[in-house]
Parts: sequence; C-alpha cells; structure tokens
Amino acid sequence: MAALFEPFKLKDVTLRNRIAIPPMCQYMATEGVVNDWHIGHYGALARGGAGLIVVEATAVAPEGRITPKCAGLWSDEQAKAFIPVVKAIKDGGAVPGIQIAHAGRKANANRPWEGDDHIAEDDPRAWQTLAPSAIPFGKHLPRTPRAMTAEDIARVRQSFVDAARRAYEAGFEWIELHFAHGYLAQSFFSEHSNQRTDMYGGSFDNRSRFLLETLAAVRQVWPAHLPLTARFGVIEFDGKDEQTLAESIELARRFKSSGLDLLSVSIGFTIPDTNIPWGPGFMAPIAEQVRKAVDIPVTSAWGFESPEVAERAVKEKQLDIVSVGRALLANPHWPYAAARALNVDKAARVLPAPYARWLERYNLGQF
Ligand SMILES: Cc1cc2nc3c(=O)[nH]c(=O)nc-3n(C[C@H](O)[C@H](O)[C@H](O)COP(=O)(O)O)c2cc1C
Repeated sequence: MAALFEPFKLKDVTLRNRIAIPPMCQYMATEGVVNDWHIGHYGALARGGAGLIVVEATAVAPEGRITPKCAGLWSDEQAKAFIPVVKAIKDGGAVPGIQIAHAGRKANANRPWEGDDHIAEDDPRAWQTLAPSAIPFGKHLPRTPRAMTAEDIARVRQSFVDAARRAYEAGFEWIELHFAHGYLAQSFFSEHSNQRTDMYGGSFDNRSRFLLETLAAVRQVWPAHLPLTARFGVIEFDGKDEQTLAESIELARRFKSSGLDLLSVSIGFTIPDTNIPWGPGFMAPIAEQVRKAVDIPVTSAWGFESPEVAERAVKEKQLDIVSVGRALLANPHWPYAAARALNVDKAARVLPAPYARWLERYNLGQF
C-alpha cells in the first residue's frame, strides 16, 4: 500500500489519505461572502479524492483581504455562507479546513488577472493597509502601510479569535492560521518588514510575540479535539537562510508548546526578488528538518505534481501530508489518478463511501 494513501489521524480527525489541498484564493466572493462558485469549486475538489481541503485565505477583518473579492469571516453572514461549502466538502469525503488570514501590507491588491498589483490610492476601492512598520513591500506592491498601534494589534488578534469561532460554527474541522507569505503575521516576524521599537519588534522574542499571542488566543476558542495548525514561512531564500531557519525552528517549538498540532512549512515571501530554488517538492527536505527538530507533524506544498514525488516525501517521512495545489486545480481527480499510478487497491481512500462500495462491488477499474 502506498504511504500517500494511508489514513492520517490528528486529534479526532481522520483523513482518508495524505493528500491535502492547500489554500488557494478564488477571488470570487462579494463583500467577503462566498457563493455558488465556492460550493461548486470545493465540492468538485472534495469529490476528486483529497483527504483534506483547506479553504482559501479568508480575511479576519475587511482591511486584511488580499483583494476586494477575497472571502471573509468577520461577520456572521459570512460564516453562514460557508455552511453549504462545508457540506459540499464533507459530501465529497474530505475533511473541511479553512485558512484564516490578514494580508497586512500586501492587502488591497487587484485580482491576479487584473494586474495583481496594489489598487491605486485614489481608486474608490482603496483602503488603508496595516503592517508592523510603515515599510512598503516593493515596486509590485508599492503602497506604504500604516504602522499598527497597540490598539490595532489587539483588535486584529481578537479578529483572528472571532474568525476561528465562526469557522467552527460553520462546521470546519481543521483551522490554519496564515502566518506565511509576507502577510501580516509573517511581516511581524521578519526584520525586513518589522522595525518596531516596542514589545512587538527588535528581538526574536518581540518579533514572535504577535504570532504566539494570536495562536494562544485562538487556542482558547478552537475546540481541543480538532486540529489547530499554522502555515509559516520558515525561510526567505534571501542569503540569510541559516539564521532564519534556526529562528523559525525555535519559533515552531514555541508554537508546539502553545498548542499547535501541525505546521504547514512554507516560504516567507517578505521581500521580492529572492533566489528560490524551484523544483519538484523542493521544500520537502526543509520541512523534514523542521519536523525532526520540533517533533511536530508537517505538510508542505510547492511542486508536488508527480504522484511518485509525493509518495516519496511521505514514505521517507519528510512530510506527514503532501499539499498539492496547482496540479489539483488542473485536475481535481489528481488523487484518483495518483492512486491508480501507485497501484492502490482501496477505493475508499479516494472516493466517497457510496461510490467506493459501488466500485468495489462491480470490480470496476483497478479498485
Ligand atoms: C491560485 C492560487 C491561490 C493561492 N492562494 C493561497 C492562499 O490563499 N493561501 C496560501 O497560503 N497560499 C496560497 N497559494 C499558494 C498555494 O497554497 C501553494 O503553496 C502553491 O500553489 C504551491 O503549491 P503547488 O506547487 O502544488 O501549486 C495560492 C496559489 C495559487 C496558485
């Protein structure tokens, strides 16, 4: 039996296999409210056979949206709209997860197909972006954010807590805090974007504070029997990787002692123009380093397109779960195809139970 198709249990949640779909923005919500697009999209992905679906970056506050069309969880109306999305995912046999996020200085951008750049300040759709320090990201996202006050920090932390509670009320069984990709939390951790002189900037302890406080606060409201996870960029590929990775491992240890159940190991993306060594599953050895040093389950994405590469990462214990993004957008039935390629003989590992039983009874296909 392929390691990729072994079930994975974390807390009271069991995934039918080790394939996760990482969060991928759809940019299709209206005022943060998801709709039929999301029900169809996530339902199709679930029926394709993945064990876990982490719904796209969902903003905890209006100014934390990447684009004006991003999903939100700052209101009960938004939470209610997620109920049929959760149902569609569960009907397809996958576990429903969600990433909650604040985009910080990278917020208020145009959708990728409209330019992917910042909305101009004089555009009626513009809002004030927030960040630890008033430092713009770079020429692609040039607007200068406002440095957050202590009150802003407390409010955004509470927004994460409220969004987590709403996610649970909507039926999600897995939550991922977005601490990666140069968005607000990651930008608190990185010295590239955080030059504060108060208790949220400077030393390692201070740069970690917003992330640890947010995690601890969410832990208070997120049920203990369900996985609480985070996505965090452990490396920037900016030439200072040894130091960043060492600090990231130490922070991941603190995440674990604060109640984190799994870490999604990713890239910092705090500054533009870094030297990323793209390649199939290139983050797996880095994730493995974190997994071993911290003794915490991990997943990672980036370039898992071939079932064999994904299988190797699980079999060699680099990852507990493989996150497959673009390959699954291109083919929602990627897990089914991977099961066939890896000679998996248990239909229930990729198909909802009634289909699996039907296929087994009629001995159709390879199953
Ligand atoms: C359309 C699209 C939207 C994305 N949105 C998010 C997001 O909301 N949150 C996030 O953490 N990463 C996001 N990502 C990154 C993916 O989760 C994933 O890390 C990336 O696509 C690399 O994995 P892959 O090589 O399997 O595609 C997005 C990627 C794509 C292609």
